[in-house]
Amino acid sequence: MAPTPPTRREVLLLAMLLLVILFFSNSEPPPPPSPTLPLTPSAPVLEAHTPQPLDTRLTWGSSRPPETTIASHVPGWTILDKLYILKGVVYIVSDSPSTIPDVRYIYSKGLAIKPGQEEDQKRLPTDRHIRVISTKEARKLFGTSAQTIDGFSFLVNDPPQFITHYYHWSAELWFGFWRAYSSLDPSISPEGNTTLVPPRRIMFNHLDNVHWRDYADMNQLVLRSSFPSVSMEFVDDWRDRAEMGKAFVFERVLVADRSAAMLSFNYARYQRTAAAAFALPGSMSWWQPIRNNVVEFAGVDPEVGSGTTGKPVITYISRQNWGRRMLIPEHHDRLVQELHRIRNEYGYEVNVVEAEHMSRVEQIRLAARTTIMMGVHGNGLTSLVWMKPNPRSTVMEFFFPQGFAHDYEYTTRALGMVHYGFWNSEYFTSPGLPTPQYVEGFQGKEIPIDGEAVARLCVERLSLNSEVDD
Ligand SMILES: *[C@@H]1O[C@H](CO)[C@@H](O)[C@H](O)[C@H]1NC(C)=O
Repeated sequence: MAPTPPTRREVLLLAMLLLVILFFSNSEPPPPPSPTLPLTPSAPVLEAHTPQPLDTRLTWGSSRPPETTIASHVPGWTILDKLYILKGVVYIVSDSPSTIPDVRYIYSKGLAIKPGQEEDQKRLPTDRHIRVISTKEARKLFGTSAQTIDGFSFLVNDPPQFITHYYHWSAELWFGFWRAYSSLDPSISPEGNTTLVPPRRIMFNHLDNVHWRDYADMNQLVLRSSFPSVSMEFVDDWRDRAEMGKAFVFERVLVADRSAAMLSFNYARYQRTAAAAFALPGSMSWWQPIRNNVVEFAGVDPEVGSGTTGKPVITYISRQNWGRRMLIPEHHDRLVQELHRIRNEYGYEVNVVEAEHMSRVEQIRLAARTTIMMGVHGNGLTSLVWMKPNPRSTVMEFFFPQGFAHDYEYTTRALGMVHYGFWNSEYFTSPGLPTPQYVEGFQGKEIPIDGEAVARLCVERLSLNSEVDD
């Protein structure tokens, strides 16, 4: 049927509407002229107003040095203001030492972690590593001033052992660091707005500059996309400062120590050093400032993946060509079939990918858009930290039956998302978790999975939609 031509009345109404729009858009006041001195607030960063000596030290002269204060602390993660270092030894200056936690919860010898109680004892710090001294002693030891290490620094007192790995870097070091630091801003918004300043430098006093990258080159990408202007120091720089024989003082520093974190209750419970930091206050959106920087760098709008009204994205990270920790081939095929079935039936987006065949940026982009991520226990699941937590966000991890490890379970939950562990057709979620166990078959190529059970749970998780729409 041909459309009927508009009536005179309709034409008249349309003309009136146009006039009204024209009138209101014209009567809009012009935007105020931009202020003529837009550079004033940021100018001092680049140059001083008046000539002055370069500010390199904290001087107390004949009085006593300022005391160290602790801004935030749990075992292994401590934020200190005015922490001193001299000849490679860390000094907490305090006239009320009873308010300072036992230093073994702050710092260790920074040795490699080996199992056994004897090894645990061996890593505990001595006077040659960290000391708590009075202001009087500090005056005697440091003299009248200390060289300033300005702004906020991150000092990592760990050996390379757990650094050169994407999971340990992003989901432990970076995770714990930011979780501890974010305790100073418990009102970080879901968009990631925060009052925290980025760290100026990250200092490793036990590793050199060729021992912090990982085989997938993710560590450096995460570092430089989280904080594009952060600088790095390594063991030689630590030694340089030590050999100068003068005290340095951190304006503010977060000291991370894996060995010290291992003394926490949360470590005993989850075997994750970052878990210690979760005992601190913090926002539900604590991770978003980092996540947003990284996904935005990868070219994704940080808001992608939020809310529950968009098309759900299911991503299965396959390890079938990895050689270790793989599904029974027929079970893998069946799982893929089932995922395609629910894609066709419900209109989900389904991705079956192998992380090793994607660029770093592609991995982050896909994770950022993913609603349900799944795969066999392994490093590929580290990307879950780039997902956007929403009520449907889910991680499904496949283990050899009876096997379990907290790594990705803990990490998922720490972000406010839901994790399911699968033993073939059986699945479990917190708080009903099994005890961690590396059973025979855990690392093998014969891990069973019931693809139909997985698909059923996907549909269940995604049909939350109707209840919690936003
Ligand atoms: C977050 O910061 C941006 C940029 O300043 C601003 O536009 C937005 O309104 C802020 N959001 C909240 C919730 O404060």
